[in-house]
Amino acid sequence: MYTLGIETSCDETSVAIVNKRRVLSCETVSSLNFHKKYGGIIPEIASRKHLKFIGKVTQSSLKKAKIELRKIKLVSVTQGPGLIGSLLVGVSFAKALAFSLGVPLLGVNHLFAHLFSPFLNRKKFNFPFIGLVASGGHTEIYRVSDFDRIEVLGKTKDDAAGEVLDKVGRFYGLRYPAGPEIDKLFQEELVDKNLFRLKKKEDLSFSFSGIKTRAIYIYQELSKAKKIKALDKKIILSSLQYTVINSLINNLTKALIENKINTGVCGGGVVANSYFRKVVSQIAKKRGVKIFLPEINYCQDNAASVAGIGEYLYQKGYKSSYQLTPFLK
Ligand code: KG4
Ligand code: ZN
Repeated sequence: MYTLGIETSCDETSVAIVNKRRVLSCETVSSLNFHKKYGGIIPEIASRKHLKFIGKVTQSSLKKAKIELRKIKLVSVTQGPGLIGSLLVGVSFAKALAFSLGVPLLGVNHLFAHLFSPFLNRKKFNFPFIGLVASGGHTEIYRVSDFDRIEVLGKTKDDAAGEVLDKVGRFYGLRYPAGPEIDKLFQEELVDKNLFRLKKKEDLSFSFSGIKTRAIYIYQELSKAKKIKALDKKIILSSLQYTVINSLINNLTKALIENKINTGVCGGGVVANSYFRKVVSQIAKKRGVKIFLPEINYCQDNAASVAGIGEYLYQKGYKSSYQLTPFLK
């Protein structure tokens, strides 16, 4: 069954064709370049660009998959969370497409689509598992009994993991999004473990705003004294990334132990981080657990994950009405 997925929650306009979790095409155009000078995503620009790109991206996805439109049997679309104007473009387009083809429509959760991403192009997966989503807007940890039975175990009380890297990176002169830039400059041997300490806590929540403020404060102090050097930047940003990534990994490990579950599944932009991937595979080996990560292409927002989870939920009996409306949170 060919499923067409549509993702427009932020700056990526993405359309994919998936069949039995196999990705036949996933075409993505980002409006990132139009936002770069503002240091973050401007919602109005993002929605206008989605409108401009979505028809062409759909055509190119069909062409790449060598599938005719009439062969599509399900349209799956990101319903939320995301930017309202951006979501509206995707949801409206999906409704029109499903209606004109006479096929079912399914609105899916953006965060759960990230959680589905490791299962693309893969044959088997089992429940339950502990899920971790770390992106620019969200940092959450779940107990997943099935994709329609997801319990939130913890989430961030303030900033998301990617958001901290992006916001601090901007202060240190990096371009938006700074997450991938910090990943490149990260050097484990430069990490000062005392620079950013997180408070010990009992639950599975996250909190990054304290270390964000500290990183910005250090920058201001050093630049006031005109003392900031390239090496300082590397030390500070490597130490920041170290703390953020280890906080994610500590909570993931804690959730696996507390719930006596031996499978972890991670998704979202931050999961592309090289240090995260390295430590996760070390932990998996050390603890004898399985941790599934998405292919690098499917860490960021993408329609293949949306089509994949849509196909899965449709086969469990879910579908949406044409009254489908986006949600923000
Ligand atoms: O999942 P995503 O594409 O969009 C949201 O749903 O937010 O995630 C984007 C976030 C950004 O904050 C970006 O800085 C971060 O993922 N990111 C990374 C890396 N690649 C993207 N963070 C750390 N290391 C990376 N390699
Ligand atoms: Zn996302």
